[in-house]
Amino acid sequence: MSAVIIVGAQWGDEGKGKIVDLITPSADAVVRFQGGANAGHTLVIGTEKTILHLIPSGILHPNVRCVIGNGVVIDPKVLLEEIALLKGKGYMADDRHLQISDKAHVVFPYHVTIDQLREEKLGGGKIGTTGRGIGPTYEDKVARRGIRMADLLDEKVLRERLETILPERNAYIEKVLGGKPFEIKELCDLYAEYGRRLKIYVSDVTDHIHTWRKAGKNILFEGAQGTALDIDHGTYPFVTSSNTVSSGACSGAGVGPNAIDEIIGVTKAYCTRVGSGPFPTELEDATGELLRSKGGEYGSTTGRPRRCGWIDLVSLRYAVNINGITGLALTKLDVLSGFKTIKLCTAYDVRGEKVTSLPSLRADFEGARPIYEEVTGWDTDLTAVSSYDALPDGVKKFIKRIEDYLEVPVIIASYGAERNACIIRKNPF
Ligand code: IMP
Repeated sequence: MSAVIIVGAQWGDEGKGKIVDLITPSADAVVRFQGGANAGHTLVIGTEKTILHLIPSGILHPNVRCVIGNGVVIDPKVLLEEIALLKGKGYMADDRHLQISDKAHVVFPYHVTIDQLREEKLGGGKIGTTGRGIGPTYEDKVARRGIRMADLLDEKVLRERLETILPERNAYIEKVLGGKPFEIKELCDLYAEYGRRLKIYVSDVTDHIHTWRKAGKNILFEGAQGTALDIDHGTYPFVTSSNTVSSGACSGAGVGPNAIDEIIGVTKAYCTRVGSGPFPTELEDATGELLRSKGGEYGSTTGRPRRCGWIDLVSLRYAVNINGITGLALTKLDVLSGFKTIKLCTAYDVRGEKVTSLPSLRADFEGARPIYEEVTGWDTDLTAVSSYDALPDGVKKFIKRIEDYLEVPVIIASYGAERNACIIRKNPF
């Protein structure tokens, strides 16, 4: 058996969904371990595009078990819509295909309201959240006033939990945020119904994971968002509210660190970010606009235009260290085709000093100016390329520079949304 973790090495949207989909044929199970419906994984098979927010991308492979671990926060309405969408397309014919942790916390409408009203109040200083209630749900989990999937299965427990929790949340919504309160009965009826519909999928998934491990099965842990959005290691406070880094797979799925064999970091060949916060290589010019239009850089969850810039190796080295990345998947190389020169940020200028690590002080990070190296670009259409050797020299030099700087091999090079638009140099399983 092998266990592989896939994480985002930048600010999310690196193309993890495609990489998971590519590696899934070698896996017996795919496990999501953090985040919620703030994620949006786009999968393209032939002419069919599927965007998943909660269900692991492995669901498109009929023989692979998909698990939503305890570290995920679940909006049951989104989940049920996703199940219906997949079933409508002929996927998930067998209900055992999906398994949901009984310990995963549940997103309620009051979480969504709190998230959105807070952002409105923050105005220019807002985080730029996806507005899906993610932060408030994780807050409630840590404050021990959360409601878990298991609680939805017992209406009495659900009502008791809501009776304890909701008055306080309502007071906060009304008095601090100026919003409308929620009715216990309405929420209880709705969520008990969600519980009835989702019951067949809910169990102690750690039991399954450990049974699979003992039986020598291959398990893929699928991260959402990216390292720079990690609650501890990201660009705080402009982060999401979970541990997006590889160690989150252990706590968010219930496995020990010694179960993990390989950790794949996914990075675009350039860099994007949605939401607020520092982004040293951001290009607010025609080049940034070109990256956005060529790369289709609009959020798959919110449709927001993504901020675009050159690849940042300083921040990627940090990601390699924090995650223990053993191999990189480099995506969207096709977007760089046609650029005369391509820049890679190898250091920052922080108040006149050259630094090669992330500045601790927020003002220093916000004011950091990128110091670039350049490589000659390539003009070749990459769609027909089917081997590493057949890649243009420019691509190979670009990849080599990334590998040398980060001291990690690029094991997958991807240059299009289609399954076959990529080269797998080493299968992590
Ligand atoms: P939240 O996760 O909705 O609370 O948003 C917090 C920050 O994480 C914001 O900057 C969001 O834009 C960002 N974020 C959350 N999910 C994703 C994602 O899947 N891709 C990229 N950014 C994300």
